Amino acid sequence: MTNYPFAIHYEATSRTFHLQNDNLSYIMMVDDYGKLLQLYFGKPIQHRENFSHLFNFTTHAMSASILEYDSSYSYENVKQEFPDFGATDLRSAAVKIRQENGATVTDFRYQSHRIFAGKEKLAGLPASYVKNPEEAWTLEIQLLDALTNVTATLSYTLFAPTFGGIIARSVKLSNNGNENLQVERLLSLSLDLPDKNYEWVQLAGAWAREREIEERPLAHGSQAIYSLRGHSSPHHNPFAALKRPTADETQGEVIATTFVYSGNFLLQAEVNSIDMTRLQLGIHPEGFSWQLLPGTSFQAPEALLVYTDKGLNQMSATFHKLLQKRVARGQWRDQARPILLNNWEATYFDFTEEKLLAIAQTAKEVGVELFVLDDGWFGQRTSDRAGLGDWTPNQDRLPNGIAGLSQKIADTGLKFGLWFEPEMVNKDSQLYRQHPDWIIHTPHRQQSQYRNQYVLNFAREEVVDNIYQQMAQILREAKIDYVKWDMNRSISEAFDSSRPASQQGEIYHRYILGVYALYERLTSEFPQILFESCASGGGRFDAGMLYYAPQAWTSDNSDAICRLKIQYGTSLVYPVSAMGAHVSITPNHQVGRMTPLSTRAAVALFGTFGYELDLNQLTSEEIAQVKEQIAFMKEHRDLLQFGRFYRLRSPFATVAGGFGDGNDTAWMVVAPDQRKAIVGFFQILNKVDEPFNWVKLAGLAPDKHYTLTTGPTGETITYTGDELMAIGIDTRKDSTTTFGAPETRSDFSSRLWVLEAE
Ligand code: DGJ
Repeated sequence: MTNYPFAIHYEATSRTFHLQNDNLSYIMMVDDYGKLLQLYFGKPIQHRENFSHLFNFTTHAMSASILEYDSSYSYENVKQEFPDFGATDLRSAAVKIRQENGATVTDFRYQSHRIFAGKEKLAGLPASYVKNPEEAWTLEIQLLDALTNVTATLSYTLFAPTFGGIIARSVKLSNNGNENLQVERLLSLSLDLPDKNYEWVQLAGAWAREREIEERPLAHGSQAIYSLRGHSSPHHNPFAALKRPTADETQGEVIATTFVYSGNFLLQAEVNSIDMTRLQLGIHPEGFSWQLLPGTSFQAPEALLVYTDKGLNQMSATFHKLLQKRVARGQWRDQARPILLNNWEATYFDFTEEKLLAIAQTAKEVGVELFVLDDGWFGQRTSDRAGLGDWTPNQDRLPNGIAGLSQKIADTGLKFGLWFEPEMVNKDSQLYRQHPDWIIHTPHRQQSQYRNQYVLNFAREEVVDNIYQQMAQILREAKIDYVKWDMNRSISEAFDSSRPASQQGEIYHRYILGVYALYERLTSEFPQILFESCASGGGRFDAGMLYYAPQAWTSDNSDAICRLKIQYGTSLVYPVSAMGAHVSITPNHQVGRMTPLSTRAAVALFGTFGYELDLNQLTSEEIAQVKEQIAFMKEHRDLLQFGRFYRLRSPFATVAGGFGDGNDTAWMVVAPDQRKAIVGFFQILNKVDEPFNWVKLAGLAPDKHYTLTTGPTGETITYTGDELMAIGIDTRKDSTTTFGAPETRSDFSSRLWVLEAE
């Protein structure tokens, strides 16, 4: 195999840029008119001084040419890097700026560039980062729209080959002219591809069924996913992949992108009449505009772009590594996560200090490490009708306040975590009574609510500051090790009463900047606290949130069988260490299903793991199982949370390289040194006279000998890695552990196999 240099080349004579490493090549060229063209993105190719022979172009009837008396050059069918609105490229633009006279045409042309080792921060925004300059090269290309004197700085960071084939892209506009401009569209990524022979893979869903995999072939016109809800949303995760139809988990070309951003987004693939594909990702232009006054800049968020020819698993591994190591930050980034007990499904709003302490006491006895007090501890919050916005302890329920309770929890030997929903307010609250104008609402229009709550205008600094003061006080005075940051409704009737008409298009973005600013203040002041983000479960599960909170509550749906699809889909982009997963009670509170305790644990083990039930309601047999589950997690959690994750069998019968009928799900994690692996196998319905059913494993060392210990009899079998990957495990084999419960062969049963090599 050729070793390609990890480099960004620039050839002055041909004005060519080549981002190159062992995983990819990304080639651009400046044409005779100064436009920045895309020449190639894909498998690495060797560098040359000139790639202009790769430029292809055809004229078409009805195209507009840029040349007078010469119809031979139009951008309509040219692959571009930063397509302008309103000129000869009549596809979807990357940029649209409105001048004072109302004109919206731009003409961005190459002006200069710089290449440097490492990567710079994006002010006020989450983004990938490097630990030292050797980890990445960055290319900044400055384009100029001469008429308005606006520069666009396109930034491309190529990460070292150890991070896989991944590029971070963003763009900044600076107004060096003297007009008051309005930016109406600025997409972070615009990538032109020469053909349309791809399947579009997306993660769609809703509350409690987040991130289910859907795929379809690309077709002429636009296929898009988006959010206009003010948060990235459970309906469409800001991710899409373009995979070749023959690509599957282990082989084939995949191009994929995700957004390091948590607000409104648009992700689309537009296929034109000659089958070229334009993949774009950015802040959704609808409801967006940004006043760009002379001397000011606007920074668009970062998009991550992956290329691999090794299938969907390599795509996921590339996202996992970067998100886990170079997007997530802080002390908890690389640490195995504490096993927690959250009281939400155990008590909902119905708790007293005594009841909480009783649960915590049992939690300690079974081996839980962190007790989390969820909603209902503050203000007049005894139901969802009141209290949001008043972050002071409810003295009726917690006579010793949070400080007192947290001390008592600490005395039991547990860490303590607390729930907040910082961005929201109930009308029945002190905060609302004092500041009714702080909610997002449009004057003289209906004020819509969800769950009796309203969204605070985080576009206003004083609002963010008030919430910061309240939260920081609690975090300072109590012993708090963990914060669950919830967000339970979308934004409606958006309007920013603190700003003039010319800035009303800024509210959604300013809102999310306010959320980021609060996260930044709290995570800097309380670096020891583990933050978990949440938005009615997985309603804001995105790379932007992971920058502040290294884990997120994956879904409010805690049913083990529903979780198979949710966690499988989520794993396309996000690592196991980011996925909050809890064992809950049966019948399950969301779907009413009865599943074995062992299966509930086996699914949640591939996550940050915890319990969301009243341990005091369990039988002594169940408590014994819980103890074994926790002991198992403690023994294996580094591997489970930080090992390499492989999807083996898809719960989505026919999509994304999955095979089978969707009745089985299998996945596994493999240690970096390939000496240990854990396989999870889950079946929905049991079968009579079951046919042989082998699951092929992945990621093992072919020549290592792996020992599998099964079942209560402790039978051991030794396989070679190549056997396990070529032939697999017969799924009728007993589990390595069922946590002390008898091995069940029933509906919703599961098997866990631990494989160990010398
Ligand atoms: C929604 C969250 O997803 C739940 O886990 C819980 O925290 C509730 N909100 C509390 O209101």
